[in-house]
Amino acid sequence: MGTKKNKILLTGGAGYIGSHTIIELLGDDSFEVVSIDNYSNSDAATYDRIKKITGREVKFHECDLCDEQKLRRIFSEEKNIAGVIHFAALKSVPESVEKPELYYHNNIDSLENLLRCCADFGVHHFIFSSSCSVYGNIDQLPVNENSPLAKPESPYADTKLKGENMLREFTEKHPGFHAIALRYFNPVGAHLSGLIGELPRNRPNNLFPVITQTAAGKMKEIVVFGKDYPTRDGTCIRDYIHVSDIARAHVLALKKIMSENDKPGYDVMNLGSGEGVTVYEALQTFEKETGVRPNYRFGERRAGDVVAIYSDSSKALKELGWKPVHSLADMVNSAWKWQLHLEEKN
Ligand code: NAD
Ligand code: WQD
Repeated sequence: MGTKKNKILLTGGAGYIGSHTIIELLGDDSFEVVSIDNYSNSDAATYDRIKKITGREVKFHECDLCDEQKLRRIFSEEKNIAGVIHFAALKSVPESVEKPELYYHNNIDSLENLLRCCADFGVHHFIFSSSCSVYGNIDQLPVNENSPLAKPESPYADTKLKGENMLREFTEKHPGFHAIALRYFNPVGAHLSGLIGELPRNRPNNLFPVITQTAAGKMKEIVVFGKDYPTRDGTCIRDYIHVSDIARAHVLALKKIMSENDKPGYDVMNLGSGEGVTVYEALQTFEKETGVRPNYRFGERRAGDVVAIYSDSSKALKELGWKPVHSLADMVNSAWKWQLHLEEKN
């Protein structure tokens, strides 16, 4: 008989970061995974790709987390859930500005339902996907977990801030509950196999999918938003971090809280590479690594963009032993490999 595995309920498991995290969890023999997704921004075929990479099955349920009754049935059917990683959310900043109610409903009501289920079914370990967007427009760099949280720049960012607060309050009210909110900076790239990656349903607005789709001829050009920012080359600075590094941090965070039952509570941690990269440097690295030069031109600044933001991730190193291992070259090469895989299939 094998050793008993810890069953992890992962919401949004068919999505970009969730699918990479399933791969990392399945690489660790102590975990089994159950995914919940409503496929509003993904596809159940992701689970087949995960099986191809890991050789292991992922159990999954189709469910909208806003449907509390259905969610409760899953908790009751699955029993013995050892921990939850909550990725499921809508994440487009411009869409959230257009449809704030949808974002508050989807991102906040789902978290409320999930936390109620955790309380009722005795689940004590919880990892929440938060975002560097909770820091808003900040000018003290690098950003650490004690940096002030400015006013959210979008309803999306506000759902992350409200989500963190809700989780902290819930943890305070439920002795024994242990939660970590992980604040990701800019997750990019794809699994090194090139078999899974980011799959934007609509026209992408994040830099990396815009670069790879333009390079593949799917989009006409990249518009670089602004060239007169007070940075080394006039373009904005961000902290890009490989999605598999982000995924691995979840396994470490889970292991930490599961091994520290005597120290429950709420914590937050930044996950970034710690390096600021300009838009222009990202484009140059893409061209140097792949040999492909996507069309680009400089355009107006994009409303709401911060000039520069990058992370001090020393807390994650100290608390989780987490250090990113993938370079910017890995990020562009894997993102391109994934794009080429998509082209081959179509
Ligand atoms: P994604 O859209 O690829 O994945 C989210 C998944 O959740 C999708 O599969 C979607 O179908 C599912 N989902 C959404 N609402 C749901 C609901 N009500 N019920 C069930 N399933 C639902 O996004 P991602 O990039 O993998 O992001 C994962 C998490 O990380 C999100 O919470 C996001 O806000 C956060 N985050 C992402 C980034 C980023 O740049 N990708 C940065 C910081 C934080
Ligand atoms: C990166 C840089 C753009 C597209 C967003 C969310 C944040 C987090 C990560 C979820 C910026 C520039 C982009 C283009 C460009 N997500 N750019 N031309 O805005 O840093 O962060 O994703 O939590 O909350 O706000 O990411 O990829 O959109 O932009 O010049 O076509 O690329 O101006 O400097 P951003 P991004």
